[in-house]
Amino acid sequence: MKAMVFHEHGGVEKLHYQDFPDPELQPGDCLVRVKAVALNGFEPMILQKTTALPTPLPMIPGGDIAGEIVELGSAANDGQWRVGDRVSIYPMVPDEGMTGETRLGGCCELVRIPAGNLLPVPDDLDFVRAASLPIAYGTALRMMVSRGRVAAGETVLILGATGGVGTACVQLAKLLGAEVIACGSADWKLEKLRELGADHVVDTSREDFRKAVWERYGKPHMRHKTGGVDVVINYIGGDTWVDGCRALKPGGRMLTCGASAGFQTANDLRYIWTYELNLMGSNGWRPEDQLEMMAMVADGRIEPALHAVRPLTETPISIQELIERQVFGKTVLLP
Ligand SMILES: NC(=O)c1ccc[n+]([C@@H]2O[C@H](COP(=O)([O-])OP(=O)(O)OC[C@H]3O[C@@H](n4cnc5c(N)ncnc54)[C@H](OP(=O)(O)O)[C@@H]3O)[C@@H](O)[C@H]2O)c1
Repeated sequence: MKAMVFHEHGGVEKLHYQDFPDPELQPGDCLVRVKAVALNGFEPMILQKTTALPTPLPMIPGGDIAGEIVELGSAANDGQWRVGDRVSIYPMVPDEGMTGETRLGGCCELVRIPAGNLLPVPDDLDFVRAASLPIAYGTALRMMVSRGRVAAGETVLILGATGGVGTACVQLAKLLGAEVIACGSADWKLEKLRELGADHVVDTSREDFRKAVWERYGKPHMRHKTGGVDVVINYIGGDTWVDGCRALKPGGRMLTCGASAGFQTANDLRYIWTYELNLMGSNGWRPEDQLEMMAMVADGRIEPALHAVRPLTETPISIQELIERQVFGKTVLLP
């Protein structure tokens, strides 16, 4: 098959479009022809090895995959799946890890996946939109609903709202009835955030988001229980953490699912105890979340924010755009 492969870590020049051996099926596996694969913020981290994850080499990027079953392993032939079924892949595989991080990804023509990791794609959902959903929208759904319990009427500040998870958070927060303050680092991205439904936008390349929150909602006041926002979504980390706490209303909650700008953050415990803040983690999502997101897109409640739909050969430029933060939403590649 053809695949986008890197044999050593480094910049996008390490990616090569080349012939690669077809996957070999284990009895419980299915072989899926990739129809569309989407990129995530972790692609640069894996390619450049800025995480401690044990990435095997050679490696194929891409964890968000939609396609068609072309072959069933001998133990995957129990009638649940048939050749030709349209499927979305739940990318976290027991004993193998995350597709595109610690096991081969989907920037190629064929992927091997245990049958238990397949989910049906609704008839009225195309492959491009199906591929855009698992990691970013699944993660956002768990963070906003299962963990964050964002409710109608709440105020939600979303840092890095322009990325895959961020655009999903903006859409879900609006659907839940919240008021959204969305942060991005360029005018063109802020315009798109407004189009997506953000009530207010903050240009973090020029503005201090904490001050912007205080100006709009007031400085948090413990006795009066006023000021600040109810929820901060913060997977940026780095030097945003303390100001994220300071932007919260007394009793507010800050949620994280990552650390794009660094995981070793400063902290100021005074704000946490004085304002009785809740700092919450959210990790991944469940297959039910992925099914729910597909249903929400199929019935029109959510329209995924797509940055670009391109041929697979354009993976290097697409990952370079992620490195340079020139992306709004999801990039989908077509083998
Ligand atoms: N735990 C999990 O299961 C899970 C799952 C998915 C993602 N994540 C994590 O969630 C985060 C977002 O993922 P994503 O796929 O949405 O990434 P993404 O598409 O690259 O979006 C990240 C956004 O953060 C902003 N940003 C601010 N400071 C940044 C920095 N120093 N480096 C990079 N971006 C920065 C960028 O927007 P502006 O340029 O407009 O500021 C960018 O659009 C990542 O940290 C990722 O590892 C975790």
